[in-house]
Amino acid sequence: MTGDAGRPAPRPGILDIQAYVPGESGVPGKGRVFKLSSNETPLGPSPAAVKAYHNHAGALALYPDGGATALREALGAQYGLKAERIVCGAGSDELLNLLAAAYLGPGDEAVYSEHGFLVYRLAILARGATPVVAPETNETANADALLSCVSDRTRAIFLANPNNPTGTFLPIDEVRRLHAGLPRNVLLVLDAAYAEYVRRNDYEAGIELVATNDNVVMTRTFSKVYGLASLRLGWAYCPAPIADVLNRIRGPFNVSGPAIAAGVAALEDQAHVETSVAHNAKWLEWLAKEFAALGLRVTPSVGNFLLLHFAEEKAKRAEAADAFLKARGLILRRVGNYGFPNALRMSVGTEEANRLVVQALGEFLGQGRG
Ligand SMILES: Cc1ncc(COP(=O)(O)O)c(C=O)c1O
Repeated sequence: MTGDAGRPAPRPGILDIQAYVPGESGVPGKGRVFKLSSNETPLGPSPAAVKAYHNHAGALALYPDGGATALREALGAQYGLKAERIVCGAGSDELLNLLAAAYLGPGDEAVYSEHGFLVYRLAILARGATPVVAPETNETANADALLSCVSDRTRAIFLANPNNPTGTFLPIDEVRRLHAGLPRNVLLVLDAAYAEYVRRNDYEAGIELVATNDNVVMTRTFSKVYGLASLRLGWAYCPAPIADVLNRIRGPFNVSGPAIAAGVAALEDQAHVETSVAHNAKWLEWLAKEFAALGLRVTPSVGNFLLLHFAEEKAKRAEAADAFLKARGLILRRVGNYGFPNALRMSVGTEEANRLVVQALGEFLGQGRG
């Protein structure tokens, strides 16, 4: 691209990007709202993490430890990992983008699945590389379909496991089969942002695969079960050469001091994590049952959110449901840009929020009946 004379032109690919649209957080004219649009935890962070955050206030004039050493060591101890193979970032978004920056360029291809997390597409396009989209089966990534997209130009595969916005997952045996079918120069990125919520024997986030291979990276986040989304904190577990690459290109102080302090404290409070996971398991099941009883199709989810599919009848479509819920201060997520023009994604909320959504959708679907 040459651009207009006298005006800087971005690199090819950049203007193909549709900027990421975050979940809405307010409704004009509505005081009290329930934000169920970004898969945040309704229980918030550990009080110990909040305290550590406050305690850091006296040190704001100083740069943080650029290596986030305390946090990497705490993560290493918590998950049984080598701290030197962990790289921290400003959310896992930053790490996904750094991986794309390091391994993708013009002429390269990178694969993700049909309803996969959209940040992959943006990260791939931002590097001038070509996104290749593999079809899914039953709203679930399919190892064979992903493999059949691999060409000699493929440099990376991005797999959210579990995936957002579907909540479906690939059993670890399938992930292993996917990995086994890849050329060794293709990077497999396992994005396990929701791993803590999954209670399935056939699920693993991918630690073992990273530990035993040179071409697998696992990304994780403090934004979901740890309740620290606003602090922007994520981490990647990498083969040593990939950790080295990420450390060369990341900002030298990419993780803030308060985030490091809060992250360490959050990890120490695993009782809070267990409470949050138990809350999620209980209400995820309850919501799925209640929505099914209302006649909505619900994609089976192992995450902290549910994808609700609406009827085709105009007055009963997702758009109308969204407006009906918003008028009651209940904010869900439209997911048309994920290939679901007639669905809404709902994060599991507090008991109050969950009951209000079920009640409101009951009213919405009952309108005009009888
Ligand atoms: C699948 C998946 N990966 C990564 C992220 C990014 O999380 P963060 O950048 O907050 O760590 C999200 C956030 O919604 C997600 O759903």
